[in-house]
Amino acid sequence: MAGNGRTEPIRLGLIGTGLAVAQLHWKALRQLTDRFVVTAFADRSARQGEHFSSYSGVDLADFTADYHQLLARDDVEAVLISVPIPDLYQVAKDSLAAGKHVVCEKPTGTDERQARQFLALADEYPDRTILIGENFFYRDDIRFARALLDDDAIGEVHLMAWRVAGQIVPQEGRFNGTPWRLRPQYRGGMHLDIGIHHIAQIRMLCGDPVRAHGAVQWANSTIDSPSDLTLNLVFASGAIGNYTASYPEIAIPPEPNDMRLYGTEGVLTLDETNAQRRVTLIRPDGTTETNLFRGMDNGYYNELSNFADAIRHGAEVVGTIQQSVTNMLVILRAMDSAEQGVVTSLADASPGGVPLWRPHGATGLFDGLPGERAATPA
Ligand SMILES: NC(=O)c1ccc[n+]([C@@H]2O[C@H](COP(=O)([O-])OP(=O)(O)OC[C@H]3O[C@@H](n4cnc5c(N)ncnc54)[C@H](O)[C@@H]3O)[C@@H](O)[C@H]2O)c1
Repeated sequence: MAGNGRTEPIRLGLIGTGLAVAQLHWKALRQLTDRFVVTAFADRSARQGEHFSSYSGVDLADFTADYHQLLARDDVEAVLISVPIPDLYQVAKDSLAAGKHVVCEKPTGTDERQARQFLALADEYPDRTILIGENFFYRDDIRFARALLDDDAIGEVHLMAWRVAGQIVPQEGRFNGTPWRLRPQYRGGMHLDIGIHHIAQIRMLCGDPVRAHGAVQWANSTIDSPSDLTLNLVFASGAIGNYTASYPEIAIPPEPNDMRLYGTEGVLTLDETNAQRRVTLIRPDGTTETNLFRGMDNGYYNELSNFADAIRHGAEVVGTIQQSVTNMLVILRAMDSAEQGVVTSLADASPGGVPLWRPHGATGLFDGLPGERAATPA
């Protein structure tokens, strides 16, 4: 889209003001007051609306429990949709029909049928900016790792290995405690909700997978979802990889949870330790270079910047519906594979990789962005 040449902040309506807004989006929005002003907010729960007003300072007079009333307002140009997964599609569809630009949380619906309906919205509303929240596409450490790979820092990647394991039990007031997550009305449960971000990271760094073999286990009685997924992938590049995610209900020892990419000329690892993320390049001669990322918000600031720059300046959206649908299809095909005991094809799902997001008008990866970055060569 071409952009509209205007520079004043986008008048944004929030639909759903639960945990994601309180813990993730609001922190980014309050750093982006030159791009967004919240003019209205809606939540089915009046208590949630009051809570949002209390910490944000947005006037409770601009609250409604019925999002259709928010959509009827002329002073709402765009909406940020953060409702539970089963409600995302209907709210996105209604928002586009009301003429709004849409930034909508992941995933693109509950199953493949709804993902395809989501995809049809992009064709139906070509003049609207639509961004599906996939903050991993925008995370500084992952973008940095991707730039290293694009520069051939480890040669050809031939293997990806990543195990993510951590106890999950319902906790009041935390993401894991929301009733809609405990009894998920969407395919894949925890793996669609959480794993889809990991698939985004895998696709950013390894390109699109073309074949998948998955297996699942149910070892968490507190959540109505498979706890364990192990997934073997073959990528379009020819590289292979294994992703294993386990969310048991019992406590388990601390896990490294680092992603490792093995190349023909080196190894790249991504990990998180002591509230900082690290990207480490290990060369065959044993020398290493570690880049540290502190004080970053896991991509929400960048994601909302991309949305604003697309509306105002015609910037390309990286988190398109198609990209999010592809992430989702990897999880769904893994579930098909697990249920049917077969290898599933992803050849129909590839949008040709994920573009590397850079700040609008910038040449550097981090120009003008918050957060601290440091390199420590050893
Ligand atoms: N990108 C990320 O890192 C990330 C992290 C957490 C959640 N999310 C996504 O954000 C969304 C919300 O998750 P959450 O953890 O904030 O859930 P939540 O349950 O804490 O909040 C959802 C809110 O939506 C409200 N709501 C439900 N249906 C509504 C409707 N029809 N109209 C208006 N309000 C409605 C609920 O009252 C609640 O306040 C989900 O789609 C989830 O996938 C993304």
